[in-house]
Amino acid sequence: MNACAARHVVLVGMMGVGKSSVGRALAAELGRPLFDSDEMIESDVGRTVREIWTADGEAAFRALETATLLRALAEEEPSVIAAAGGVVLSDRNREALRSADAHIVWLLADVEVLLERVRAGGHRPLLDDDPERTLQRMYDERADLYQEVADAVVSVDHRSIGEVTRAVMRCCA
Ligand code: S3P
Repeated sequence: MNACAARHVVLVGMMGVGKSSVGRALAAELGRPLFDSDEMIESDVGRTVREIWTADGEAAFRALETATLLRALAEEEPSVIAAAGGVVLSDRNREALRSADAHIVWLLADVEVLLERVRAGGHRPLLDDDPERTLQRMYDERADLYQEVADAVVSVDHRSIGEVTRAVMRCCA
């Protein structure tokens, strides 16, 4: 088994790429806790991402996203962190990721693959209108930012969760 030299393994990438599913499998394989950004926010605030977004707005949600990321990165215990898709938008978050004792893995997928996957869930308010165009625009805006923080890139296209998990483990020694 690959122990991962850095304290934390952080999964970054677009909505629908599988950060939470791969994060769960990876945490189980490595015997580490999983910090899943959206789940942490929802349990801290006692409301869903959509409810927070609708009632308080994007800026308030992004502040929670930052607080959650910083808290997870500060944990002493080695962990797996499934970061929210928008985490790379803030300079402060990218700086925190780059300076953390963490191996950052960008999970990468074609926009068509993301589109198939996000159709299943309604918890993403950003995708309420024209999800295909929105995902493409978000990918275009964010690809360089994911690249900037990533120590490794793993493609998820045509791969099962188990295959992606093993690929992440291979690249985090
Ligand atoms: C967002 C991604 C979502 C959630 C929110 C905003 C984004 O998380 O935090 O809807 O801006 O990419 P996932 O990446 O876990 O879907």
